[in-house]
Amino acid sequence: MCGVVAYTGFKEAYPILMSCLKRVEYRGYDSCGVALLDGGDVQSHKDVGAVDDLRSKLEHVSGATGIGHTRWATVGKPNKENAHPHLDCSGRIALVHNGDIDNFMALKDELIKQGHTFTSETDSEVISHLVERYYAGDLREAVIKAITHLEGSYALAVVAADFPGVVVVRKESPLVLGLGEHENFAASDAPALLEFTRRVVYLEDGDLAVLKPESVEIWRAGTRIELPVHQITWNVSELDRVGYPHFMLKEIHEQPRVIRDTLVGRISLTEPRADLPLAAHKPPARLIFIGCGTSYHAALLGQLFVSQISPMPAHAYVASEFDPLPSSLKDAWVVALTQSGETTDTINAIRRAKAAGAWTIGVTNVKESSITRVSDDMLYLQAGPEVSVAATKTFMAQLVAVYLLSLHLAPPPGQLGELIGELRSMPSKVQRLINSQSSIQALVKKLNAYDHLFLIARGINVPVAYEGALKLKEVAYLHAEGCAAGELKHGPFALLGQNTPVIALAPRDAQYPRMLTAIKEIKTRGSPVMAIAFSDDNDIGRYVDDVLTIPVAHGLFSPWLNTVALQLLTYYMAAARNLPIDKPRHLAKSVTVP
Ligand code: G6P
Repeated sequence: MCGVVAYTGFKEAYPILMSCLKRVEYRGYDSCGVALLDGGDVQSHKDVGAVDDLRSKLEHVSGATGIGHTRWATVGKPNKENAHPHLDCSGRIALVHNGDIDNFMALKDELIKQGHTFTSETDSEVISHLVERYYAGDLREAVIKAITHLEGSYALAVVAADFPGVVVVRKESPLVLGLGEHENFAASDAPALLEFTRRVVYLEDGDLAVLKPESVEIWRAGTRIELPVHQITWNVSELDRVGYPHFMLKEIHEQPRVIRDTLVGRISLTEPRADLPLAAHKPPARLIFIGCGTSYHAALLGQLFVSQISPMPAHAYVASEFDPLPSSLKDAWVVALTQSGETTDTINAIRRAKAAGAWTIGVTNVKESSITRVSDDMLYLQAGPEVSVAATKTFMAQLVAVYLLSLHLAPPPGQLGELIGELRSMPSKVQRLINSQSSIQALVKKLNAYDHLFLIARGINVPVAYEGALKLKEVAYLHAEGCAAGELKHGPFALLGQNTPVIALAPRDAQYPRMLTAIKEIKTRGSPVMAIAFSDDNDIGRYVDDVLTIPVAHGLFSPWLNTVALQLLTYYMAAARNLPIDKPRHLAKSVTVP
């Protein structure tokens, strides 16, 4: 999983490629590189590290056509040799690749026997040698012949020293073209190009394009085709930190706006009703939510919310583990949550759901992403671009979407008005919580003294304990485990003690008395306990060492506020540890490998 970019025009390509690469860095950042056409030669530069590291070592490379890559290692360690671009034996063809070539070992053996010399361990390098095998002046022809050998996924951008442009092609990895005046672009996603153009073309699987400064030709199965030109609506300013020290903090702060925007037009102004513009289809007998990582936690919240408001059966699965029997889902809707719209495990799970007879709804933040091509219907989040690798505002938008969907499909008689009213009040409650950060700051130092912690919850907040633990691991590099409070005594108790603090999510809801019981049991074992509780809860302080308060809300909405409290806590703990908050080690925002 990586980011690819390409430029051809009359300007210096290097600074343009570097800007575009910065924008796709969320897709991987263990190494990066560029190749530019310069005076009949290919100049390639690559290294371990992020885009800014390469930029600091490499002031300028000249050339008006080039390709670039930022890598998240899959095949081959993150080192300079394995970084892209990959060149052919002559050094006159260069290529960048996002995806995985399943049959690369067999291809590599064959190419070595034919005399090709390899310099990396990657699967991608076989493609440059295949292009070399077929290149006789027409790069498009050579790429078409090369890809007939490939099994797997790819978004490729290829240049050759004597070819005046870039050839790009995709299969199961995203690729977008950007159209400019006397210049054209390609990238793994549209926001990467926003600084230079708003006019984009989304390639479909199997499409190949030849980009030259004055022309863009798109080919599908050997025939020239035209594809629609889309206007990107996101603003370039949304891609900047606008004064925040990190994108994560900026994105946490954007959540009141995100909730509002995701609700707009989806709750009736006149009646208590959620109105979703879904394609007409027989309503489901049951709902299944799927997702990976943070999106799986949103799926779990969807399942629990439906179960609390209606008798409709609801389930949640980790997308990679979702493998229904044929014809077993004819009465079900499968709701696939993925902020990026590109997660391979989720996309494959949708295909399996359809094969099992389900009606599928994709929920994503990225228009025209891959999920739109496999789902029967779509629901778009309105979070705006999320740059930080850790999902925060897109998780919040997913919660808005799954709650709306649940209220639309399974409206609880007698309760709908109250729940819709609470939905409307959430932006201001989240804003109030964001504005009152002083108590969070005080706890940061205390919790940062530990190496392990548990987060416990009951009922609808259990997925929030999981999500809080995930955030602490990925951003603050702290070993944290989320646990249903009742489960603690079945094993984790052995780890409790003065060196293992516990964060208890304790909103005053139906579960509250049982949560107090769990807290007392934990205190008996000597662990420090911090509670996240409603601001009007004057009792909780008697049972715990510290309290972080959240605004009072309906119990079913407390997960939203607990989420924000834990996001802020994680952010400030990571900041105090001086960690690379927006780009945690070994992670990537969009995981396009199975
Ligand atoms: C990666 C990201 C996570 C995200 C997960 C699923 O692991 O780092 O933040 O939750 O992928 O991504 P998706 O785009 O499907 O929501």
